[in-house]
Amino acid sequence: MTDPAPLPLVQSGKVRELYDAGDGRLLMVASDRISAFDVVMAETIPHKGRVLTAMTAYWLEELADLVPNHLVAVDVADFPEGAAALPGGADYLAGRSMLVRRAEMLPIECIVRGYLAGSAYKEYLAQGTVHGMAVPAGLRHAERLPEPMFTPSTKATEGHDENISQAQAADLVGTEVAAKAAEICLAAYQRAAARAEEHGIVICDTKFELGFIDGELSLCDEVLTPDSSRFWPAENCAPGTNPPSYDKQPLRDWLEAQPWDKQPPPPALPDDIVAATSERYVASYELVSGRRLADWYGA
Ligand SMILES: Nc1ncnc2c1ncn2[C@@H]1O[C@H](COP(=O)(O)OP(=O)(O)O)[C@@H](O)[C@H]1O
Ligand SMILES: [Mg+2]
Repeated sequence: MTDPAPLPLVQSGKVRELYDAGDGRLLMVASDRISAFDVVMAETIPHKGRVLTAMTAYWLEELADLVPNHLVAVDVADFPEGAAALPGGADYLAGRSMLVRRAEMLPIECIVRGYLAGSAYKEYLAQGTVHGMAVPAGLRHAERLPEPMFTPSTKATEGHDENISQAQAADLVGTEVAAKAAEICLAAYQRAAARAEEHGIVICDTKFELGFIDGELSLCDEVLTPDSSRFWPAENCAPGTNPPSYDKQPLRDWLEAQPWDKQPPPPALPDDIVAATSERYVASYELVSGRRLADWYGA
């Protein structure tokens, strides 16, 4: 008997490898790679891939009654044969991989903001609006918005994503789909933000990716992870400050203190920064979900 052929690689992104799992399915494998300032570091962050996958699985469960999603399986035992033949084998895949249904992805990133930060704050300072929409005057950095806002952006294949208005989003995907996407994402954010706040974590903003599966708009990609969201400890996000994202704070602080022009190659990370970042990722999963990473696959 010959060993099964490894699943074909579809795409290798900054963080994930995507494999064709056959039957209209993909295997998404989250590595331990980390990027900061859009540059991928040379070192990997222990447990990071498992955190991203465990977190996504947790939220997909929590949101399952609100919106259909792409998840098929997270247990290696349920993956197609060719998975175990991939580099690192089943031991590497365990906990960091999801078998998903391949969706026809919307060409927009569906961002929801509950707080004023990042590029939205920059626009607010310059023009007094958020994605062209009116918001009250006098808001401070990191202040809670009167209502969570749906603030889509383009999905740039290279370079930075560009913020777009809801009208531009409607031009890209159609008026009805844009409205439905906004409704789904706002509902998902609202529930997630309320749950996280019970655990002392503020979800400042987050990026969802939606796609059509069997004609139904579904939640795809990673969901409400530290890489797709800005998580703040509730006690540490006073309006008027610029709280860095909880998880990447040690890394960003250290990088900011280096004589580095933020172009590749990045400086080599010291062990204590790698360890501190890993601890933050694990803690964010455990805080937000109330679960232990040791209980997740691949421990
Ligand atoms: N169910 C799905 N079907 C098809 N494509 C998907 C699905 N879920 C996520 N994707 C796509 O898979 C890719 C995930 O890989 P990632 O490493 O995060 O890439 P990126 O650098 O583009 O974020 C993204 O391009 C995302 O849009
Ligand atoms: Mg991604």
